[in-house]
Amino acid sequence: MTNTIYESSDFFCHDLPTHPLPNLGKVLVTGASGYIGGRLVPELLVRGYKVRIMVRGDAHVYQNLWPDVEVVVADALNLDQLKAALCDIDTAYYLIHSLNLGPREFEATDIKAAHNFQIAADKTRLRRIIYLGGLGDIRSPLSSHLRSRMEIACALKESRTQLTVLRAAIIIGSGSASYEIIQHLVKELPIIPVPYWAKNKCQPIAIRDVIKYLVGVLEVEETQGKDFDIGGPDILTYQDMLKKLAGILHKKILFVPSFFSNIRFYAYCASLFTPVPDSITQCLMGGLKNEVVVRDDSIKRFLKFDPLSYREALVRAMSREEQDKVATRWSDAYPPANELALKLRELKEISYITHYSIFSPKAASKIFRSVCKIGGKEGWFHSSWMWRLRGMVDRIFLGVGTWRGRKSHSRLRISDVVDFWRVEDLEKNRCLLLRAEMKLPGRAWLEFDVKDEGQRRRLSVVAYYDTNSFWGRIYWYMFLPLHHFIFQHLIEEIEKRS
Ligand SMILES: NC(=O)c1ccc[n+]([C@@H]2O[C@H](COP(=O)([O-])OP(=O)(O)OC[C@H]3O[C@@H](n4cnc5c(N)ncnc54)[C@H](OP(=O)(O)O)[C@@H]3O)[C@@H](O)[C@H]2O)c1
Repeated sequence: MTNTIYESSDFFCHDLPTHPLPNLGKVLVTGASGYIGGRLVPELLVRGYKVRIMVRGDAHVYQNLWPDVEVVVADALNLDQLKAALCDIDTAYYLIHSLNLGPREFEATDIKAAHNFQIAADKTRLRRIIYLGGLGDIRSPLSSHLRSRMEIACALKESRTQLTVLRAAIIIGSGSASYEIIQHLVKELPIIPVPYWAKNKCQPIAIRDVIKYLVGVLEVEETQGKDFDIGGPDILTYQDMLKKLAGILHKKILFVPSFFSNIRFYAYCASLFTPVPDSITQCLMGGLKNEVVVRDDSIKRFLKFDPLSYREALVRAMSREEQDKVATRWSDAYPPANELALKLRELKEISYITHYSIFSPKAASKIFRSVCKIGGKEGWFHSSWMWRLRGMVDRIFLGVGTWRGRKSHSRLRISDVVDFWRVEDLEKNRCLLLRAEMKLPGRAWLEFDVKDEGQRRRLSVVAYYDTNSFWGRIYWYMFLPLHHFIFQHLIEEIEKRS
């Protein structure tokens, strides 16, 4: 496997009490580009399974990441593509989720994808589906997010194929959205208001235990056709969860009771203080009004192991971050249907381009390594405050902002997030192309290019901007005078730090 993030000690299932099934047919992992799917695939491969993954993005990226998997490009909203993805599959993991689309759109999109999956499953010889959804008591009024997770299970159950449902509450692991929200609230805020729902109970679970349950049910045939709640050993209030992390970090926080309980407001505030944008905090925090605890622990009859405590899960997540070994992150999944996903190279014409370059005697590899460190904790090398200010404005207007940072400080690969950019193309020691995901009256890209010119290397940065609107043009001309200052200094700093 070329994925350098994984070492043998990093696999979660080595102490699973079940054994791999050598004669099992092909396993399909949908949502393989997502947080859970991206961690499940290497575990299945190391246990010897034949794995096909279904993605919407660039197949080459995933083929390079996992050379041993078969990659199928398919959109669950397209029935024909789904049927092709399910052809000759024995068991399929259903990990499709459109949370990125935000609270208004994700429900309808997710249910359509699940209906399509059920139809496609019945048209093929699929034997089993394993679905990971959310915990919640169906007898109480659930948040739209939790209700949607239940509806997906119901839609999949309409299929003739045997369905196993695992239901989890908050998942704690490096790169998980819930963990990053908790972590940043604790780190950033000296005072935290406590509305009544912060006293609701939750049963968090570590990412490694979720993966163990997902692999475990595959290896225990008796779990077919059954629903299971999964959770860690601790039942905590949301306030306890923040307090426990504050304790680990030796951070003093004043928790103040608050009579103002509007969750949408708190979710918006959380998006201003954490890397997770409003579209996601609204969906996730909507569920805080519900108690999400394990009511039926029958999974323990089939899979006997001790899940990690909340504290252990936090410590492991922090340690993965410190080692710069975050394997997947909530920001990995990205809806390509979004018009931003139109690639720069696919555009016939670009409205505006500016170009800055410098020469350097240093090796291309050194310069490129320095290029690939921009953003995240390192900042933008020069006038970082300007980038941060732009990011803050973006967040206030419900954009992704610069807070998103990066998954890794040292590595970049296609589709990774760099603050409010996303890597669209990357050619080692040659070119890094970033696509803007901030709120803009147009589309923007930033390209870094390193070229040999005689004895020297030319390092260039090119800003591309495409717009048809009046406001788009105003925006471009408003920021144009700053370009020289920002970009020229940026490449000079990149060269200096290489
Ligand atoms: N993460 C958690 O904390 C957590 C907690 C409890 C339960 N769960 C459950 O675990 C499951 C997986 O969650 P996750 O966190 O891994 O989600 P995620 O990171 O948002 O990933 C979602 C995946 O679904 C794919 N997808 C979305 N729409 C699609 C479509 N139309 N066709 C094909 N693929 C599509 C995405 O692909 P693209 O990259 O192409 O967008 C992505 O790979 C969900 O059911 C979720 O409810 C997660």
